[in-house]
Amino acid sequence: MTPKRTESIREGKSKILYRTDKPDTVIQYFKDDATAFNAQKKGSIKDKGPINNGVSTSVFKFLEKNGVRTHFLEKLSDREMLCRSLEIIPVEMVLRNKATGSITKRLGLEKGMPFSPPLVEFFYKSDALGDPLIGEGHIAYLKWASKDELNQMIETTLKVNTLLRPVFKEIGLELIDFKLEFGKDKSGNLYLGDEFTADGCRLWDLKTGESMDKDRFRQDLGKVDETYLDVSERLQNYFKGKL
Ligand SMILES: Nc1ncnc2c1ncn2[C@@H]1O[C@H](COP(=O)(O)OP(=O)(O)OP(=O)(O)O)[C@@H](O)[C@H]1O
Ligand SMILES: [Mg+2]
Repeated sequence: MTPKRTESIREGKSKILYRTDKPDTVIQYFKDDATAFNAQKKGSIKDKGPINNGVSTSVFKFLEKNGVRTHFLEKLSDREMLCRSLEIIPVEMVLRNKATGSITKRLGLEKGMPFSPPLVEFFYKSDALGDPLIGEGHIAYLKWASKDELNQMIETTLKVNTLLRPVFKEIGLELIDFKLEFGKDKSGNLYLGDEFTADGCRLWDLKTGESMDKDRFRQDLGKVDETYLDVSERLQNYFKGKL
């Protein structure tokens, strides 16, 4: 029997999380809503829900195939993904291959400055505080994750980068940076959670350098709907027959 969603647990900016009639699982329902700058800018992107559900599904399947433990269990419908229920660790892992966005302002770095090896940063997941940058010391001191868990999170984040960079290159895009969330199941096993979509990463066109991600929405660059669809179609074509 296909699991059905029951009551909602929480509504976030881009997804609604539901309990289900299957133990230890949740459903992520992907909305078309788009926000930026800690929800100061609000809008919607045509078909973003189904597009992001599809992209995340393919990326998670690909990562699982390559030894990354994710919360993904099954795509249930256009907008619904069945996942393992996790207690999300309140630390956003951000990996940067090149400088852009907040780090350029924070540290006065030039946009496009390469980080080789990639840079991994940590942010405290708190809308109320505007997701502030934190260090390893805060994570240990406030017991958000153990040393071992944090090491696993860093290692997995680097592995995701190693796996996905060539995929995006193959479809004409450079993976500039991305954000990941991790969580633990009842037994304390660590999984990659949440999503991997053009909302949470930056992709630059290899030929033109144009942004092919949520920066089009953030900066009013136009062709937002078209870009989400374009990236999704390229990825789905690439993954066809491979997953
Ligand atoms: N497997 C999971 N189990 C439990 N919670 C999850 C799981 N995967 C993702 N989540 C959480 O579900 C929510 C998804 O909603 P959304 O991404 O719209 O939130 P958000 O507006 O980004 O807010 P937040 O700051 O809480 O991430 C997030 O809080 C995310 O951390
Ligand atoms: Mg989110």
